Amino acid sequence: MSTSPFLAGGTPDQPRLIFADWMHAVQAHIESTLARLLPPAEAIPARLHEAMRYASLGGGKRVRPLLAFAAGELTGAAPERVEIVASAVELIHAYSLVHDDLPCMDDDVLRRGRPTCHVEYDEPTALLVGDSLQALAFELLARSALSDPGRQLEMLRLLAHASGSCGMAGGQAIDLGAVGHALNTPELELMHALKTGALIRAAVRLGALCGEPLSDKAEAALDRFAKRAGLLFQVVDDILDCTASTATLGKTAGKDAAAEKPTYVSLMGLERAREFADDLRTQALAALAIFGERGQRLIELTDFITHRKF
Ligand code: IPE
Ligand code: IPE
Ligand code: MG
Ligand code: MG
Ligand code: MG
Repeated sequence: MSTSPFLAGGTPDQPRLIFADWMHAVQAHIESTLARLLPPAEAIPARLHEAMRYASLGGGKRVRPLLAFAAGELTGAAPERVEIVASAVELIHAYSLVHDDLPCMDDDVLRRGRPTCHVEYDEPTALLVGDSLQALAFELLARSALSDPGRQLEMLRLLAHASGSCGMAGGQAIDLGAVGHALNTPELELMHALKTGALIRAAVRLGALCGEPLSDKAEAALDRFAKRAGLLFQVVDDILDCTASTATLGKTAGKDAAAEKPTYVSLMGLERAREFADDLRTQALAALAIFGERGQRLIELTDFITHRKF
């Protein structure tokens, strides 16, 4: 049994943390892990390394690492393994945000309450920050002892697939190609499942893979959960874009409508998008039933994803 405060199942010596405390502990731990794993800001080329740290540290909800740790609880995973896969997924996520904000994509100037990477630095640097964060994610997975070689290779493959043209990058391509077009429900679901869902699904799967194998049935249930949670995450992002303020979001509000992006709000209107989010929450929670109490962190995270304010 782990002695980590964020994987502890609750013992007399180490009582189980309430959700908010657990979340803050994981967020702080990921911040310090990334700070340690990223190249020092002074290392040559210093401007690139400084920008990589700017884009990865000091902000973000760290939802993907939280999911990896919560899934790791299901399989008794060692925290020093989970922190590696959680960091790798978060680095890919940070890279995706840097590129997403570029003028050739969403052209955003604000991210996590600060100027976007290309505004703070410049476009070529932001492009290279994305390239370098992605490479670092895979280097980390390859150089760390996570599992037996076969399973570790599978973990690398899984993250590569989730990041590439059949995953996040592919979803971004659909997103850009859909500007000004109305997508139907299956098309929009596919776009969201790829651009956001794929990395969330990978975070859950990688966290679980750091521990003991699950039964086929439990593995399928966990993947069903991850798919619903990934879609839920982006539906809520769509809703927040048109309901929350720029100050609360830490990114420019109202961008989707202004840029004529197809979203669940543009497809079905705000009220039905909210109902759909609630349906997805119910479906995600139903998939977790098989885990009983061990699924508690994932249940709490599902509620966090649904009701978050930014
Ligand atoms: C924003 O992701 C981009 C989407 C995939 C919707 P997050 O909402 O997880 O962003 P941070 O990491 O908390 O800033
Ligand atoms: C971004 O989706 C998804 C990825 C970065 C892969 P959005 O474009 O909706 O994200 P935000 O709203 O800018 O954070
Ligand atoms: Mg985008
Ligand atoms: Mg964007
Ligand atoms: Mg958005």
